[in-house]
Amino acid sequence: MDKNCGKTLSVWTDTFKVREFETLKENTEAEVCIIGAGISGITCAYLLATEGKKVIVIDDGNLGGGETGNTTAHISSVIDDGFSRMEELHGKDAANLASQSQRSAVYEIERIIQKENILCDFKKVDGYLFFKPDDTLFTEEHEAAMRAGMEVEISTSPLKSFEDHNTLKFPGQAQFHVLKYVSALAGAILRMNGKIFTGTFANRIEDSKENVIINTRNGFSIKTRDAVIATNSPISDYLAIHTKQSAYRTYVIGYKIKKNSVPVALYWDTEEPYHYIRVHPDEENDVLIIGGEDHKTGQEEDPEERFERLEEWSIKHFDGLTLPEYKWSGQVIEPVDGLSYLGKDPENSEHVYIMTGDSGMGMTHATYGGMLICDLIVGKENRWSELYDPKRITVKSAGEFIKEGANVLSQYVDFVTPGNVENAEDVNSEEGAVLRDGFEKFAVYKDSEGNVHKFSALCPHLKCVLHWNNVEKSWDCPCHGSRFDCIGKVLNGPAISDMKKISINETAK
Ligand SMILES: Cc1cc2nc3c(=O)[nH]c(=O)nc-3n(C[C@H](O)[C@H](O)[C@H](O)COP(=O)(O)OP(=O)(O)OC[C@H]3O[C@@H](n4cnc5c(N)ncnc54)[C@H](O)[C@@H]3O)c2cc1C
Ligand code: FES
Repeated sequence: MDKNCGKTLSVWTDTFKVREFETLKENTEAEVCIIGAGISGITCAYLLATEGKKVIVIDDGNLGGGETGNTTAHISSVIDDGFSRMEELHGKDAANLASQSQRSAVYEIERIIQKENILCDFKKVDGYLFFKPDDTLFTEEHEAAMRAGMEVEISTSPLKSFEDHNTLKFPGQAQFHVLKYVSALAGAILRMNGKIFTGTFANRIEDSKENVIINTRNGFSIKTRDAVIATNSPISDYLAIHTKQSAYRTYVIGYKIKKNSVPVALYWDTEEPYHYIRVHPDEENDVLIIGGEDHKTGQEEDPEERFERLEEWSIKHFDGLTLPEYKWSGQVIEPVDGLSYLGKDPENSEHVYIMTGDSGMGMTHATYGGMLICDLIVGKENRWSELYDPKRITVKSAGEFIKEGANVLSQYVDFVTPGNVENAEDVNSEEGAVLRDGFEKFAVYKDSEGNVHKFSALCPHLKCVLHWNNVEKSWDCPCHGSRFDCIGKVLNGPAISDMKKISINETAK
């Protein structure tokens, strides 16, 4: 990322320096290559290495530098789309199996932490789900959660501002410092003779019956039997998966608060969009972490305003808050039927696997996903493989699928709308805007020295018009969530190439 491009900083990135790795500097081989060193790729690589597989992990950025570093790290088995919704979409048995996979992931994280002796502020906590007093979903959700095998009880709220809400309490949840966890797993991978390279961008995947070759932007290749695409949004897939899931931006603020002033637990409400809350015990203070205000990526004109709304909401719900110490945002991927896509990539051969569709529950998704993909690669039976098969079609989610498709199609109207500004001179310093010139649209960014960087405003994936994000200083695609930094470098797939550069005008001061 260009030094001029802003990026918000999470409490995890601020409080812990992750392990650093070298860039790949030669052609190499492995049994399995994992693209993406977030919690999904690292968990999968760790589990494969414990099975004796020779693994290589590559990442364009730093370890945990994607959405993993942006998380709030609730380790939760409470399915955020709701147990009743899962039953409606997939039936009671599948809802039960999904809930079992979530619980297994919480146990697996705890098992790994104990086995590897990881100090990552892991703590078992209760989870509380709040429903407005008149919300009829409360009883339905309680019963569906019990049917799904969850430990759940009707409770009072430990938070004053939710005392009038109906509350479900879910024991057996957990929380941790995610970067401490993935750093320790990376250390364990190295110890088991695995290799990790950062600053290494995969820009082409060649897939044949015999092997998979991952080509990197700096001109090297990794020859491997199996490849796992753990890039959050798969870069190996052009359409099949991206029509079945959507990218959302979500916002977080963190307040330093007096120790123990808010009980340490996980909290969620059922507003639309919902809020998610936890407490991170820091050295002298606690940090109250509040997230929410989600919207579809690239479909909010003023993302900065989302922080303002979140602050207003927080001040209304917690006493004594002043200014937040942290503000950050990130991206979650919502599958149309609420379940992750874990398994063989529908657009590739038998040996390319994807891990995607976290649904905002990426800590558990990465963990049962890692377990599942590891089983598939080493040839073990896995009881969740059919449930999460990326090829599945969920008939009952057809309505959602059509709605999402229509939303994507409606973005193409941007071809005929005017730009945000008439001329590049109208763009403020360190800001971007889209301008129209005849039939074409251009994305223009003015850096702190007044240089104007001009690109085609069309996303390299499927040509939707990109939107400027004033919080992250990035170009975001409203169709399938690709993102680019202020000077056009790709940050999030499905796009695998940078924005098309037109010019840099160094004279426009
Ligand atoms: C604000 C926020 C709050 C959240 N809160 C929670 C929560 O409380 N609990 C929960 O369970 N989940 C939560 N989530 C979701 C969770 O954080 C994510 O699902 C999870 O971290 C995703 O991990 P990942 O490994 O799949 O992706 P990432 O961490 O994004 O890792 C993907 C990696 O792939 C790399 N990459 C991409 N393209 C390429 C390429 N071409 N070549 C090489 N490398 C590439 C990226 O650099 C990146 O490091 C939250 C997410 C956000 C944004
Ligand atoms: S991400 Fe698909 S068109 Fe941009």
